[in-house]
Amino acid sequence: PEDMLFSYKGILYPITVCRPETLEVLHTFEARSDDVILVGYPKSGTNWLEQMVKELADAKYTEEEMKERINAEKKLETFQRLEFGDPGIYERMKQLPSRRIIVTHLRPDLLPPSIFQSKAKILVLVRNPKDTAVSYYHFYNNLPLLPSYDSWDEYFADFMNGKLTWGSYFDHLLEWNKYIDNERIMTISYEELKEDPILGMKKIASFFGFSLCEEDFSRIAKKTSFKAMKEKSSETHGKFGDALFRKGVVGNWRDIFSKAQNEEMYQKFQDSLGGTKIASKIKYDVYCK
Ligand code: A3P
Repeated sequence: PEDMLFSYKGILYPITVCRPETLEVLHTFEARSDDVILVGYPKSGTNWLEQMVKELADAKYTEEEMKERINAEKKLETFQRLEFGDPGIYERMKQLPSRRIIVTHLRPDLLPPSIFQSKAKILVLVRNPKDTAVSYYHFYNNLPLLPSYDSWDEYFADFMNGKLTWGSYFDHLLEWNKYIDNERIMTISYEELKEDPILGMKKIASFFGFSLCEEDFSRIAKKTSFKAMKEKSSETHGKFGDALFRKGVVGNWRDIFSKAQNEEMYQKFQDSLGGTKIASKIKYDVYCK
């Protein structure tokens, strides 16, 4: 199983989708000022946010025009995540029409500098650590591209120590917290999107300057509901569909965390992120005891 992963600058990545030689040239990616950058630690709901934002950004296009845009991406063989694929992608991405929607799981200190030098806006998605940990556990075990764990306890230790692909959840949030006051950055949580998707989408649309009418928001909310996305998952995500759209709820951690693990998580979260602005974006009652 070890050979399914590789380490680059101290962080693990899955060898099947990422390559060291691509990470080596990641800094050559040229951001455009109208790029829409979406960021989330793995399992924070990135695929959901991606779909929502694509729908919000493209609401003005007809079905036909949307297909053309998707085909352009397919033809150029660009990838779902900025850090996936072969080293030639950053060159090919130059040919994509604006407005590009770029998704990544990376921390800001690992992103290409042009993202911060350009006027591109960045939306950072956060999810409470316990549900994120549970989601990632099932993902490791259900996805053939990642090694499986014999037990939840063994996995839990790796989550707490940041020994998973894309590194530590806690470091990811700490690094993004440094940018939280930047006016070109907005954070949104999985939990608030679940609670009121339309309100969440309105915040997103106003941040990126998309103009939509009320009907657009309710149409997109229906189209991006967990049920609707799960039903279409084999079409949209092929053989990864089942693993990607698992439960889609808040509070699933209660099924699997022991009391001691709950306390350990609480303490670790307080010690590393307590008092930070990014932590206040994560609903307290979801991660507390
Ligand atoms: P669970 O494993 O808790 O179900 P990512 O896309 O970053 O890999 O995150 C995956 C998580 O987002 C999974 O969480 C998945 O079920 C959830 N998810 C995907 N689509 C969703 C949707 N439309 N609504 C709510 N949650 C969704």
